[in-house]
Amino acid sequence: MKRLVLLISGRGSNMVSLAQSCQSGLLLGRAIIAKVIADRPQAIGIVRARELGLPNSVVAYRDFSDRRQFENALHDEVEGVAPDLVVLAGFMRILGEDFVRRFDGRLINIHPSLLPKFPGLKTHEQALMSGEKVHGATVHWVVPALDAGPIIDQIFVPVESNDDSERLAQRVLKAEHVLFPRAILKVLNNQYVHERMPDHGLTS
Ligand code: GRF
Repeated sequence: MKRLVLLISGRGSNMVSLAQSCQSGLLLGRAIIAKVIADRPQAIGIVRARELGLPNSVVAYRDFSDRRQFENALHDEVEGVAPDLVVLAGFMRILGEDFVRRFDGRLINIHPSLLPKFPGLKTHEQALMSGEKVHGATVHWVVPALDAGPIIDQIFVPVESNDDSERLAQRVLKAEHVLFPRAILKVLNNQYVHERMPDHGLTS
């Protein structure tokens, strides 16, 4: 059984879907959610994690005087769970290079666009504005550059003629719930080989 740590900031719908997948879906017998960690005490997802009986904690960004201290505390909290995979499941904070490198080869993210198209925020608005016929979501390895790591898996969502960003966002989110367990299974099955980042002398 591989141990997943999920980092969240908000509503946690991907976390719920991954929990279901571990309990009775694609990840049954393959992975468990060892802990859900939020960067904000008011993240709705933490309430949902408690309701689901998942181990959870908060490392609140605002409790630290700078990003380095926050990331050191987050690192210790995550490592304390001895995770096989660290999963950014709607974690809305950009992580610094040191943090990312410490988890090199164990850190993945889900992003609501077909990367490399539309990194960053407001992906659905961007897809509509640029007249995309197909939109979707991506699970990728995390590297220091934002939303730029090697792609593990993608799911496609056709854009409909009457879509606005909200309608499109709803369909992409549903698709994410299919994509994320599938992508994690791929990682667990070693169907994706991660090329390690060059070592810059950081210890893990
Ligand atoms: C998802 O759209 C995910 O792709 C992005 O943040 C959102 C999180 O949604 N990174 P939820 O908190 O899992 O409902």
